[in-house]
Amino acid sequence: MSKRIGVLTSGGDCAGLNAVIRAVVHSAAFKGWETVGILDGTAGLLKEKPDYKVLTPEEFDGTVMRMGGTILGTTNKGDPFHFPMPDGTFKDRSGEIIDNYKKIGLDAVIGIGGDGSHAILRKLAQQGGVPMVAIPKTIDNDIGETEASVGYDSAVMVATEALDRLQPTAASHDRVMILEVMGRDAGHIALAAGIAGGADVILIPELEYSIENIAEKIASVKKSGRNFALVIVSEAVKTPEGEPVQVQYSDGQFRYGGIGNYLGAQISEKTGIEARVTVLGHVQRGCPPTFTDRLLAAAFGVRAVNMIEEGKFDRMVAWKNREVVDVSIEDAIAAYQAVEPDSSLVKTARGLGISLGD
Ligand code: F6P
Repeated sequence: MSKRIGVLTSGGDCAGLNAVIRAVVHSAAFKGWETVGILDGTAGLLKEKPDYKVLTPEEFDGTVMRMGGTILGTTNKGDPFHFPMPDGTFKDRSGEIIDNYKKIGLDAVIGIGGDGSHAILRKLAQQGGVPMVAIPKTIDNDIGETEASVGYDSAVMVATEALDRLQPTAASHDRVMILEVMGRDAGHIALAAGIAGGADVILIPELEYSIENIAEKIASVKKSGRNFALVIVSEAVKTPEGEPVQVQYSDGQFRYGGIGNYLGAQISEKTGIEARVTVLGHVQRGCPPTFTDRLLAAAFGVRAVNMIEEGKFDRMVAWKNREVVDVSIEDAIAAYQAVEPDSSLVKTARGLGISLGD
């Protein structure tokens, strides 16, 4: 039986989203189904006339899947159940989205998002009776019940390459180079890129640190005859006093940013060595996806479409033990995955003599 399925990207973009959309469109078309792309996440459904377009396999001729970003657009603002109105009040606008799902005539929706988006999309699916399958994406890699999320591998690659580029200039100028990376409250990007990129110090929000310990490590590097050091820090690392370092943006929201500069000043003061800071920011999200992210995107997209065929809903595709599996969305949201302090990668870093600042 022919179906019309919807696909939307929600939350912050990352590399690999277009590869997921391509996989969904191709595998749906293979079954004789139509795929509708909803534009700008839930924002596209908060208009009187829903913003969507029919996606054909011909559009995905091989160029789109190589591109970063999402051709559908996305939003990481405005929970429709508690939507900020221009007059400063909040309104439940979920009914408008559900009406628009129905106007488009969807048999099912595939939501590509992080845990926050999945929670909202799941509630909409339950209220509106439009069945849903979730696909995990986030550079932060903090979604539970899956070993990998689309976008993480590419972000780690960018951060690793940044360390590769910082190392020669650090060596040329006898400097400490500090790289601040994203990851929200989880230190996965800093830990993985720090190991892969040869950092001397890795700071993640899951472990407490002291400036003295960092200074000690840098002094021992210097004593060993090396004239430079590389430090990678996760954006959510707090000051030693436990204060988060954030910036308030024009939309009124606070976002992480600035811990690198804070540490740079402290390290220079303690060691007398020049420190310079690079804040990598959104460069970690806009790159072409790595092969790993493309494979994950393909496997997740195909599985999600198969699940719709099998009538398996309210579930998220996941990667476990070299296989694509599916898990309950509720469990995945509940099992938020930060870095475990005794995980293999933490032990690996310690085993290499990398300082974790603790
Ligand atoms: O969740 C992905 C992420 O890139 C985080 O790592 C970062 O803290 C945040 O989004 C940045 O959000 P925005 O794109 O709104 O600046």
